[in-house]
Amino acid sequence: MRRLELPTPDAAALRASHALAECIAQELRACGNWMSFARYMQLALYEPQLGYYAAGAAQLGPAGDFVTAPELSPLFGCTLARQLAALLRPGDAILEFGAGSGALAAQLCDELVRLGAGAPAYLILETSRALRERQRERLGERAQWIERLPERFCGVMLANEVADAMPVHAMAWTRRGIAERGVCLNEGQLAWCEHPAAGELAARAGEIEIELPPSGRYESELSLAAPAWLHSLGAALERGAIFVIDYGFPQREYYHPQRSMGTLMCHYRHRAHGDPFLHPSLQDITAHVDFSALARAAEASDLELLGYAGLAQFLVNCGITEVLGAENPAEVAHYAPLAASAQMLLSPAEMGELFKVLALGRGVTVPLAGFTQGDRSHAL
Ligand SMILES: C[S@@+](CC[C@H](N)C(=O)[O-])C[C@H]1O[C@@H](n2cnc3c(N)ncnc32)[C@H](O)[C@@H]1O
Repeated sequence: MRRLELPTPDAAALRASHALAECIAQELRACGNWMSFARYMQLALYEPQLGYYAAGAAQLGPAGDFVTAPELSPLFGCTLARQLAALLRPGDAILEFGAGSGALAAQLCDELVRLGAGAPAYLILETSRALRERQRERLGERAQWIERLPERFCGVMLANEVADAMPVHAMAWTRRGIAERGVCLNEGQLAWCEHPAAGELAARAGEIEIELPPSGRYESELSLAAPAWLHSLGAALERGAIFVIDYGFPQREYYHPQRSMGTLMCHYRHRAHGDPFLHPSLQDITAHVDFSALARAAEASDLELLGYAGLAQFLVNCGITEVLGAENPAEVAHYAPLAASAQMLLSPAEMGELFKVLALGRGVTVPLAGFTQGDRSHAL
């Protein structure tokens, strides 16, 4: 697992990675050589100054570690803007979580003005200080950065590829019971270790129907953080909608017998692999999103389920073909990348099917165009 053909980080990057590994090792030595995988992921991604997102190591875009929908082209943002324009009322705001490079914010601000929907206040709640700086450089006065959720919010909340970056617990269902997979030091190296699951985690894991494979062991992830986050959004939303856009599945598919090795994935320089202990701080670590768990958290927060669809279906419903059709194919240098990004967003083999759009709301009286066809809310 450790011998992967990945580009070698330079000396400065390796020093940064060693600094974080030492910080994790210190915590392990102080707490009996065990930490949950969720704690490890929290440190690896968000430890101030050292974590992947906190240290500014996160490289979004073609030259970086991964590409998100708004990084591909403005097509995603311009199409989403149509849905938002129909929803926003005068005085409403947009609140984007984890805005990355600020690409989506820039696209939405421009397109909403073009669509005649005005310029609603654009709030960003971003946990990474380094990314906040990058967003400020790009967006200037077009956005406002907030440190915590407003107590009452009217408008649209958005989270694109944020829920998958929240810490998950690593679990193993076996014939002898349910274990929590954690992190320890083994001969000085970060390694997996496990103990019987306990408390809320054991209860939640026990509620999931798992069909054990012939090996008698099924590994996967379980997020406590993402449903808790959604619950907090539900408490803050007075009126409006929440869009969670990410790769993931309803619970039945998430814990499908064929997915017995889970969904954990690491990204380093556009290479995807499964070793979360390789170069901590230099690589992204993600897990797919269990959309059923989010829908349940929403229901418990008295939010209404407004729709759930694959990304391609949602974008087609919102009019992506008209957005692309308004461009001039004769301007090849401009048009060709847009057409290529449409292929990425819509192809079932790329982002079109793996990515989903979940919309939740309170007091929304207009039907959402994005779910007019192919709404799969019943599958959650
Ligand atoms: C994979 S990046 C996606 C960036 C951007 N949304 C995009 O689509 O390009 C994940 C982002 O979520 C942020 N993040 C993670 N957890 C968060 C949370 N609880 N609240 C707000 N932002 C968060 C990270 O700092 C990072 O900006």
